[in-house]
Amino acid sequence: MKTRVITISDPEQQEKEIMEAAQLLRSGQVVAFPTETVYGLGANALDAEAVGRIFKAKGRPSDNPLIVHISDISTWHKLVEAIPKKALLLADKFWPGPLTIILKKSKLVPEAVTAGLDTVGVRMPAHPAALKLIELSGVPVAAPSANISGRPSPTSAQHVIEDMNGRIPMILDGGKTEVGVESTVLDMTGSAPMVLRPGGVTVEMLQAAIGQVRIHPNVMRPVQKDEKVRSPGMKYVHYAPKAPVTLVRGELNRQVEFINKEAARLEKESKRAGILATDQTLSRYQAGIRLSMGDRENPADIAGKLFARLREFDELGVDAILAEGVEEKEEGLAVMNRIARAAGFHIIDL
Ligand code: TXA
Ligand code: MG
Repeated sequence: MKTRVITISDPEQQEKEIMEAAQLLRSGQVVAFPTETVYGLGANALDAEAVGRIFKAKGRPSDNPLIVHISDISTWHKLVEAIPKKALLLADKFWPGPLTIILKKSKLVPEAVTAGLDTVGVRMPAHPAALKLIELSGVPVAAPSANISGRPSPTSAQHVIEDMNGRIPMILDGGKTEVGVESTVLDMTGSAPMVLRPGGVTVEMLQAAIGQVRIHPNVMRPVQKDEKVRSPGMKYVHYAPKAPVTLVRGELNRQVEFINKEAARLEKESKRAGILATDQTLSRYQAGIRLSMGDRENPADIAGKLFARLREFDELGVDAILAEGVEEKEEGLAVMNRIARAAGFHIIDL
């Protein structure tokens, strides 16, 4: 299949181009599109066969449910059974934006989308091209991140091309995504709202809006054997570059010291270390290939750059990646969750 890449610089002026993508969605095809978080791989959420094409293009395990994207609140009411007050409040405050809300699904949502679960995650993305695409297609759009399953999520159209060229008919190129990590996934079906995946809408922001919010224990530690998973995505390898990743946590000077020693050791074995540093520490490393994931005082900056850096290490062909840790607060929690998962939870605590 030939993949067409269409640049969207001004969605208001490019309705014709976006309409072509919308027509593909209406006819049961899969289209990659930009959102404010990462690129999505979309299909008509009400068409089980179309949704099946997403799983096929990604190589995604069929028991991992998809998020449904909407462009207006009225569609949400049709997709779920009932919407609690707190959920309405969050939607009002954070939509369009990087927050996915999980509620009991209605009969309208096919099981192919929810992987057989009786709940569905819904969000309204904040990217104008995404909103236009959903609106013109006239259907809710199921979309996971547009990467091959297990790879870092795409934050540019180039990343999508790397993974999806030849597998899908069209990619809308809306430039680099703003947030850089996927949406916050909030389960509102239990007694207290629970964050299953931290993201751009931070736990602190959620708590300020609705009070108590829990963080699922699997956000920073692996699923134990025989443990019941709240979010099927939790049990899979994720965001992984080709080289094995080690995440280093603890006092910053000790992190730098540890990583320097480890990089020097790898060099002695004729192995190339990739060091994922921050702006503040980049100049303190001597060995290996060094990249900064951004300003450690500004975790949103790091969130924006993280996945691109992981893919760069792939291209540079390093043998091992040593990643600094950042504070697990605000967007830093999402950053640490993604690095920990890229590392398969191989974490050194100093
Ligand atoms: O920012 C995002 O959320 C991006 C863009 C494209 O919108 N999408 C995205 O989708 O990251 P995906 O499929 O890569 O991740 C969805 C996550 C998975 O971990 C999945 O297990 C979880 O959300 N999820 C989806 N529906 C769920 C449900 N009903 N119950 C529990 N977890 C669910
Ligand atoms: Mg994904």
